[in-house]
Amino acid sequence: MKKIVLALAAGLGIAATGAMAQGAYPQRPITMIVPFAAGGPTDVIARIVGDHMSRTLGQQIVIENVAGAGGTTGITRGAQAQPDGYTIMMGHMGTHGAAPALYPNLKYDPAKDFAPIGLAAGTPIVIVAKKDFPASDLKGFLDYMKANAEKVNMAHAGVGSVSHSTGILFNSIIKAKPTMVAYRGTGPALNDLMANTVDYMTDQIVNVAPQIQGGNIKAFAIATPERSPALPNVPTTKEAGLPDYQVSAWNAVFAPKGTPPEIVAKLNDALVKALDDENTRKRLLDLGGVIPSKEERTPQALQKLVESEVARWTPVLKAAGATAE
Ligand code: MLT
Repeated sequence: MKKIVLALAAGLGIAATGAMAQGAYPQRPITMIVPFAAGGPTDVIARIVGDHMSRTLGQQIVIENVAGAGGTTGITRGAQAQPDGYTIMMGHMGTHGAAPALYPNLKYDPAKDFAPIGLAAGTPIVIVAKKDFPASDLKGFLDYMKANAEKVNMAHAGVGSVSHSTGILFNSIIKAKPTMVAYRGTGPALNDLMANTVDYMTDQIVNVAPQIQGGNIKAFAIATPERSPALPNVPTTKEAGLPDYQVSAWNAVFAPKGTPPEIVAKLNDALVKALDDENTRKRLLDLGGVIPSKEERTPQALQKLVESEVARWTPVLKAAGATAE
């Protein structure tokens, strides 16, 4: 009799341990690497979705800003982290779409070296300028650039970032060659735009919407087919006479390759719950963010998006004459 009791207890113990091991994640805070300076669009989206994700997961999501090289420094660190679910990262169209075309020695493959978790937000691109820029609309801006491009400087967040790659595309369409000024993120770049010390940039709406609404910077156009509900007075590029410039970015959560499927599922579940939470949605929508549909939120959908974005941006950037690192 005693033997049976011991075996039963041992069995339960193993089951409990197994169950605990399975259900225990996360047992401690999770680091989310944001590969740009605090205060920029990637950071803002990470903090908004991370705030709600931490509630679902029952552990703090700690944002770690690791800037440099257009976001590839932070993403490289994330790709090389332990695949244990305790290091994740916020990547985007730059780090997981444009970067391979611009960094021949990139230390990661966006389509192979990650466990995609899910899309966090779509981010339309807005053409913005300092308040003192001598043009009041996109036509005036283009006319000014034709005559003065060599005197104008454009801000961006480093080679391969969203602001850099969408800026390169914009400059190639308008045939302008401004001086490019790199920042550790478009948070700091926006500060200089508001200080009138840098002239213009193409940036993600979630960063610039509050300053446009506050009248602190100029917005010439948004590069999406429809106007944004967050910026109803900002014309589309088509309305403003530059229909060829159509571009939107996106931000998404990734884990290192080899992260166990049950941990990927838990992280995706927390992200999906955040995107269904009214307050989280409102915070993203008020900034002009686009909430992914249910179908767009799966890890498989993100994997397909990364593959298509790398394929899309590589020829675009090469045609635009974008130079490597
Ligand atoms: C970029 O790619 O331009 C970055 O998202 C800017 C940032 O997040 O600071």
